[in-house]
Amino acid sequence: MTVVLGLQWGDEGKGKILDVMAGEADWVFRAQGGNNAGHTVEIGGEKYVLHLVPSGILRSGVSCLIAGGAVVDPVSLVSEIQGLHDRGVRTRGRLHLAAQAHLVLPQHRAVDRGSEKKRGRGKIGTTGRGIGPAYADKAARVGLRAGELALPWPELSRRILERIRIHNHAARHLGWESIAPSADLREIQTASRFLRPYLCDGVALAHQAVHTGKNILIEGAQGTFLDIDHGTYPYVTSSHCTAGGACTGTGVPPTAIRRVVGVLKAYTTRVGSGPFVTEDGTLGHLLHGMGREFGSTTGRARRCGWFDAVLVRRAVRLNGVTELAMTNLDGLDGLEKIPVCVGYRWRGKILREPPVEASEWDWCRPVYRIFPGWCEPTTEARRWRDLPAKARAYLSALSRLVDAPLGILSVGAGREQTFRHG
Ligand code: IMP
Ligand code: MG
Repeated sequence: MTVVLGLQWGDEGKGKILDVMAGEADWVFRAQGGNNAGHTVEIGGEKYVLHLVPSGILRSGVSCLIAGGAVVDPVSLVSEIQGLHDRGVRTRGRLHLAAQAHLVLPQHRAVDRGSEKKRGRGKIGTTGRGIGPAYADKAARVGLRAGELALPWPELSRRILERIRIHNHAARHLGWESIAPSADLREIQTASRFLRPYLCDGVALAHQAVHTGKNILIEGAQGTFLDIDHGTYPYVTSSHCTAGGACTGTGVPPTAIRRVVGVLKAYTTRVGSGPFVTEDGTLGHLLHGMGREFGSTTGRARRCGWFDAVLVRRAVRLNGVTELAMTNLDGLDGLEKIPVCVGYRWRGKILREPPVEASEWDWCRPVYRIFPGWCEPTTEARRWRDLPAKARAYLSALSRLVDAPLGILSVGAGREQTFRHG
């Protein structure tokens, strides 16, 4: 079993790496997160953006599970599935939804928007999909789970209405939008009918796949520094994006995991607020000018910066990464000099580990080592030795700095632009 996850702040190119790896897989499990994610996959010039459905769905021989650690907005999931059907991708009998997954309901989106507004300048910059409030209800033990979509409608609607009433009561005092239940309920009723045939016991299904020796990929969403425990708290998402989350989210034990592929960009990006030591406006300007680095879920321009080896080394250790999948190398093709952050200068000291408090990050300045750029396109490379010598030297140095071997390289969005190291 292989876990594929992000080593930075998300958008590392996991969708593309997973799509290539899924060519040899039987199953792809999505362990955590919700439709805050946006995984972009390009096949033969056709672009697919997946939010909750695992990328494996684009390979006809692969089955997919949205596991219990994920949160599911039923209405949005249905429209995602219908979008796939419209493009000829079959999902019935191939896509499974764990009854254990928690539901994202309209009030969660209202709370997400309301609390962001209240935070003002200190806002997290969430995707507004209601993810945090849905996980908050889960932790508070008042959430509804996907399995409840199979209840007779009078009972399911009673449970939803009860929560909407509580929400509307609080909303009056807290200045959140209240929910007018009727329209939302109709949509949820339709979605619940549509999703019923997809429901399953996610843990039993995962165990069966493990015990029959299936080739399984666990797909991480977001990235290590958006993890609720290990990220740049509070500027994080509300799930566990690290390797531990792959286990709790699916019910697969840690001993079943043989391989952990850490996906990362040859530079760094982040969407939303929060610390970013190597952020660099000039690099952002350059990448945006190339039409790169716009969010696939919200369309926001991503913040951009240099590769941060302090962060990635932490991520390698947190996740037990066995190999790196380095993407977006081609974004650096035009540069003469490429800085890489090897330490943080902080209150007169040099840090090799990131600080704990988000506020302390403001005092960190990057210590850069400068690498020579290769100044030629890498997008045509199909093997490691096709890459310019300076690009190979850059990648090998990053691998040494973060203490993990290179496994996969990617120089563009197409399937054929991803190849193995060596
Ligand atoms: P939330 O997950 O919508 O609550 O957003 C919390 C933070 O995580 C914000 O900074 C978002 O921009 C970020 N985030 C959530 N999902 C993704 C993703 O798939 N890629 C990149 N950033 C994400
Ligand atoms: Mg993304």
